[in-house]
Amino acid sequence: MSRHSRESSLLKKALFKGKDYITTEEWSDAQIETLLAVSADLKRKFKNRVPHRYLPDQTIFLMFFDKSTRTRNSFEAGITQLGGHAHFLTADVMQVSHGESPKDTGIILSRYGHGIAIRHDLIPGEGNAYMREVARWAEVPVINMQCDVDHPCQTLADLMTMREKRGRNLRGLKVAVSWAYAPSYAKPLSVPQGLIMLLPRFGIDVTLAHPPEYFLMPETMKAARDNAQRCATKFEVVNGMDDAFRQADVVIPKSWGCLDTMGQNPRESLRIATQYKHWICDADRLQLAKPDALYMHPLPADRGNEVTDEVIDGPHSVVYDEAENRLHTCKAIMALTMAEQEIEHEEEPAAAARA
Ligand code: CP
Repeated sequence: MSRHSRESSLLKKALFKGKDYITTEEWSDAQIETLLAVSADLKRKFKNRVPHRYLPDQTIFLMFFDKSTRTRNSFEAGITQLGGHAHFLTADVMQVSHGESPKDTGIILSRYGHGIAIRHDLIPGEGNAYMREVARWAEVPVINMQCDVDHPCQTLADLMTMREKRGRNLRGLKVAVSWAYAPSYAKPLSVPQGLIMLLPRFGIDVTLAHPPEYFLMPETMKAARDNAQRCATKFEVVNGMDDAFRQADVVIPKSWGCLDTMGQNPRESLRIATQYKHWICDADRLQLAKPDALYMHPLPADRGNEVTDEVIDGPHSVVYDEAENRLHTCKAIMALTMAEQEIEHEEEPAAAARA
């Protein structure tokens, strides 16, 4: 069998046209595997300059209620590489700022284009509900670019990065998801919540640590426990960063706000945090993890507060590879949910990965 035909025999087709991507919970394990496989395939094509115009002449509307560097630019560059175009929209210049309903916004944007992506992440109880209401009325897929509950584009990139660094079979990998101090702003809870829900489904044991005031939404904690039980992985909560880091293979220390106060009074959330300035990822603390442990962070990082320069710029850090994978994963999400045609990709050895 020629190399070409052997590779072709590995090709599998997938079509998820019209499916929303609001939380990873609504995508089956097999569907997430397909997303990862398409992401890897698109990364190879991008690196080898192989054209992959799966979305010619398509338009995606990017609605931002919050700031962004990685998400905005990965979606804009990604849709261009797929042959389409993005409209960058901020809520303050849209009629939503005058109270236009998510129903009307969803229907109208659907009539003009092929996908809607939304970031609405700062106020607990609002963002996820808003995008679900848009999705209820939109005739095109709605993609979550970060809400109050989940950041499914980030967590998919994180899982892709862990597989690249540690192999496809992640069973037994210990990942520490820890709160860390940051004075810059009360950050959304969606990254830690998304990680604790997704990672246990893919063989990973997760340890969560946070000060008492920085608890996560109960429904995400329940999903994490349920997923860990279903997939025979571990999900545990410990009191301190040191306990989470001990013998970890991967550490993800990052800040998030107080669920009770960040929506209405973010300053209070930041004030409470000042008593936990010692929750920083420095070289001494990283030594508690395994000698070859990975340091990950979705970025932006508060250097000198969440993490020292020595760690984030040091040999354990994979933050730039992690951020790069935001491009390939968001392209996979757009391609699979928006393309008219099926997307070819090499089949992931899913059984091996999940054994
Ligand atoms: N990690 C992440 O979502 O980055 P941005 O806020 O810059 O989009």
